[in-house]
Formats: sequence, structure tokens, C-alpha cells
Amino acid sequence: MRAAVVTGASSGIGRATAALLVERGWRVFGSVRTEAQAEELSVALGPALVPLRFDLRDGPAIARAAKQVAAALEGSRLAGLVNNAGLAHFGPLAVQPIADWQAQVDVNLTGTLRVVQAFLPLLGADRARSGPPGRIVNISSVSGRITLPFTSGYAASKHGLEALSDAMRRELAIYGIRTIVIQPGAVRTPIWDKVDRPEDERFADGDFGPPFARFKIAFAAAGEAALPPERFAALIHRVLTIRHPRPRYALMRGRLAHWTLPRLLPDRMLDRILAGQLGPS
Ligand SMILES: NC(=O)c1ccc[n+]([C@@H]2O[C@H](COP(=O)([O-])OP(=O)(O)OC[C@H]3O[C@@H](n4cnc5c(N)ncnc54)[C@H](OP(=O)(O)O)[C@@H]3O)[C@@H](O)[C@H]2O)c1
Repeated sequence: MRAAVVTGASSGIGRATAALLVERGWRVFGSVRTEAQAEELSVALGPALVPLRFDLRDGPAIARAAKQVAAALEGSRLAGLVNNAGLAHFGPLAVQPIADWQAQVDVNLTGTLRVVQAFLPLLGADRARSGPPGRIVNISSVSGRITLPFTSGYAASKHGLEALSDAMRRELAIYGIRTIVIQPGAVRTPIWDKVDRPEDERFADGDFGPPFARFKIAFAAAGEAALPPERFAALIHRVLTIRHPRPRYALMRGRLAHWTLPRLLPDRMLDRILAGQLGPS
């Protein structure tokens, strides 16, 4: 039975991925943060789902979870590690609290490295274990390549994750471990509800209040056209199982407008288009 670790399995893409892998006969170690989430996930997905309890900011808790998985695997390897857990806090960089920046970098970027270091022996670095080397799938974002105004901390963490992923792909190849990046556009998950926090009203009165309000409206509209998380679960299952996965996969609705053109246009032209969409302050 193939085994995978999926971080952030309580909801959204992680939850859909854990469910699909279980359905396809995998044993899944899904990370959650609370006992209630662990119980709910176990009941929903059955005995093939083993909940792990850790926060991506908590190195010792991640190390304990890796020990738990090592014992459960007995002498075999993990076939997959899906680094999915993440969060987003948007706001004007001029006034956004540094804590928002730190949380995004600590979870989305540094947290991924913490998890990879802890599970690396199980993926292939421990040569005494049996089975083919595992694959790492990092869930980045369109924001890993394109930075919209008011997404500075999120985009920086995801740009960083892209760089970390390149380093992983190039360094961990000595163990035969492949690293694959998935770059979603808008996905219909609870992350959208978590973005709009009541405390963000603190940005409403300053110079950036009106354009940030327009950004939120445009962002919410993009959420309406989002893809379901099951599309990403299917893609993750595919890259874990096909013979030659590519290093990167971008998946979204409106690919030409949200991915192809913004990456082709000169910076100044994209600046003008975005300024036109968000308007003067
Ligand atoms: N939804 C989109 O439009 C979209 C677009 C591009 C990229 N992504 C990326 O896709 C990934 C999954 O997001 P999603 O949309 O499925 O969102 P989601 O439903 O909010 O799921 C995020 C998961 O990450 C977990 N998480 C958050 N902070 C954590 C921490 N400090 N330690 C451990 N786990 C933590 C959450 O746990 P709790 O339930 O405990 O909070 C949850 O399980 C993220 O990396 C996100 O950046 C999403």
C-alpha cells in the first residue's frame, strides 16, 4: 500500500487530496491542528487516514509526527509528501502588521522546509528503507510568479516557495526524490473566508483604503469563478503516480488573462493595467 503525508488536511485542497488518495487505496497521514479536526477526519475517511497533529511553526511537533510515521511505515518509504498547508493575509504593505508578513513566511515557506527536513529520511534519505524514492509536491500559487498589489507577504512566501522548490528538485535528486510544484489560480476553499478578517477594517481609512476595497471586490469575484479543490486533488494524484512528472503545473480558470499574459507583458505595462483595475487611491 503506497503511503503519503498531506499537510493541511482539515479543509480545501488538502482535504480533497487526502480523500482521493484514500479512495485510490493509499494510506494517508494527514496533518491537522486540533483534536476535533483529527477525529472528524478519521470518521470521514476511515482507517486508511491516520491524522497527525502539528502546526507548521512547531518544529518539535513536526519531528514527533515524523517519528510516528516512521514507526507506522515499518522499514518502507513514503511515496509522497504533499506540502499543502498555508494561509493568506492581504493588505497594504505600508501599514500591514509585520506579524501578518511573518505568519505567511513562517507557515508557507519556512514551515515547508521544516516538514521536508523532518520527513526526508522517510522519502529516501535513509537508504536502509525499502521502496522507490518518494515525491514531494509543493502547493505554491499563481502568486509564486505574479505579485498583485496588497498580496506582498503571501506572494513573497510563495515566490520563496518556488525558489525552495527549485533547490529541493536540484539537491534532493541525489536520493532520486522528485519535487513538483503546483501553481493554483483561484480554488473554491475556506481560505477565501479566512482572508476577509474583521480586523482588516483597520486599513479602510488610510490612503490605501479605497484601492484595497476594490482589490477585495475583485478578489471575491475571482473566488466566484474558482475551480473546485477536487481538480487539484486529481492533479496531485497524477503527479504522484505518472512516470515523468514535470517540475511545475499551473492550473486555473482564465489562464490567458491570469497567467500567460501577465508573465509575458513588460512590468510597466502590467503596472498600468493593474493601476487601471484598482483605480487611484
Ligand atoms: N484557495 C485558493 O484559491 C488557493 C490559490 C492558490 C494557492 N492556494 C494554496 O493552496 C494551499 C491550500 O489552501 P486551501 O485553499 O485549501 O485553504 P484552506 O482550506 O484554508 O486549507 C489550508 C490548510 O492549511 C492549514 N494550515 C493553516 N495554517 C497552518 C499552520 N500554521 N500549521 C498547520 N496547518 C496550517 C489549515 O488548517 P486549519 O484548518 O487548522 O486552519 C488547512 O488545513 C495553500 O498553500 C494555499 O496557499 C490556494
